[in-house]
Amino acid sequence: MPAPKEFLDYVDDQADAFIQRLSEAVSIKSVSGDAAYRPDVFKMSDWVAKQFRAVGVEIQQVEIGNHVMDGHKLELPKVVLGRLGNDPRKKTVLVYGHFDVQPANLSDGWSTEPFTLSVQPNGQLVGRGSSDDKGPILGWLNTLQYHYENKKELPVNLRCCFEGMEENGSEGLDELVERESKPGGWFDGVDCVCISDNYWLNTRTPVLTYGLRGITYYKLNVSGPSRDLHSGVFGRTVHEPMTDLIKLMSTLVDVNGKILIPGIDDMVGIADEEERKLYEALDYSVQDVEASAGAPIALSSDKVEVLMGRMRMPSLSLHGIEGAFYGPGAKTVIPAKVSGKFSIRLVPPQTPNNILPLVKAHVESEFAKLGSKNKFELEELHGGKPWVTKIDHWNFQAARAATKAVYNKDPDMTREGGSIPVTLTFAEALGVNVLLLPMGRGDDGAHSTNEKLDRSNFIEGTKLLGTYLYEVGAIAGK
Ligand code: BES
Ligand code: ZN
Repeated sequence: MPAPKEFLDYVDDQADAFIQRLSEAVSIKSVSGDAAYRPDVFKMSDWVAKQFRAVGVEIQQVEIGNHVMDGHKLELPKVVLGRLGNDPRKKTVLVYGHFDVQPANLSDGWSTEPFTLSVQPNGQLVGRGSSDDKGPILGWLNTLQYHYENKKELPVNLRCCFEGMEENGSEGLDELVERESKPGGWFDGVDCVCISDNYWLNTRTPVLTYGLRGITYYKLNVSGPSRDLHSGVFGRTVHEPMTDLIKLMSTLVDVNGKILIPGIDDMVGIADEEERKLYEALDYSVQDVEASAGAPIALSSDKVEVLMGRMRMPSLSLHGIEGAFYGPGAKTVIPAKVSGKFSIRLVPPQTPNNILPLVKAHVESEFAKLGSKNKFELEELHGGKPWVTKIDHWNFQAARAATKAVYNKDPDMTREGGSIPVTLTFAEALGVNVLLLPMGRGDDGAHSTNEKLDRSNFIEGTKLLGTYLYEVGAIAGK
């Protein structure tokens, strides 16, 4: 059952107002990974709660306790739970999104202020969170607004779960989801889950996503002198923490992406011909990946190899060194304490727990080989398990039909390289099918400078999410 024409027309009519509301959302600097912005994440939770209340959703903002980040004890932002409808004849759909964002500063290389949505002549809506993940949350809100203003019943019962810590490992959320999935809980009776927090592979073809990688994030701390030293006075005189750390970090991964920590790559089987065909069939080219990376630097010229590197293999990335000298000039310092940050993206059967002993054994043995008198420790920051699901389910069929109706195209079926830690928790705690239904394109630049959402993806994406609810609703009647 396609969505009513009045709904689709309404979305077109309201497009400018919807974009205006997106710019309000983007202007709240809800950066979850920086203690200084925690009040803004709280403000964002309130904003989301208020917006959904205004379109008739029953809302509860749930406190989920504290955590320690960079040495500060901080309150976690309140999770926004929503409920609309309780008709036993309808299916109950749970939608998830996150209202926190990655850090962004003009000085990182943005062309416009990151927290001021900039509407470009080519239709791009540029701003932090436009695509990841404020735009998609507003897609649900836009859909609900139509039904509320026109006194139309939704074709399904709806439950919402919007959180403010996703970009920081979704701390505190698993416990809440497990609690609320029990009989009598907020998610009791949910028939399927839809998450809109991912992207098309390219800029042309919509996708449905059936897998995500997990992640495990580490910090390698090396410290020696009691304070920073002058390299002229102490160079070739003491063990230097930065030198030790660079040696250690260079033992983790090779330049072609192979993980050098023994045992990790070996946990994953080799793709057979049938699996390779799945990747071969996707509308994707090495040029696409190079276009979105902004340089001709793909690891292989073979599309299947490149796609498998992202979708079905683990990866290890080096992210940065805290405490190292950076900035202008040529300071002659020996940093006293440095922390190297890296993470590993995981695929089944890998989990943060079964990877930790391998990482620990490797870095300890490599540090011992250095014979350094400096101090060394491995810290585990956050993590999440990988998730892969079956696509022969009515939830995927509904999303496929909705995509066909809105874009007049069959979606590609993808696994993704990124992580959304709560996905597997929903699947396990509720025992229902989970689907990822994206709004944005592969070149949106999530986490990067000049993050954008195309106007057409915001507007057609709103229609897509709404139409999906109608398609799920139609299945219930069968
Ligand atoms: N929207 C992304 C997840 C994603 C990334 C889906 C790429 C599809 C492709 C999400 O907001 C995100 O970035 N998650 C973090 C989670 C981590 C901090 C636990 C990630 O993947 O780095
Ligand atoms: Zn996201």
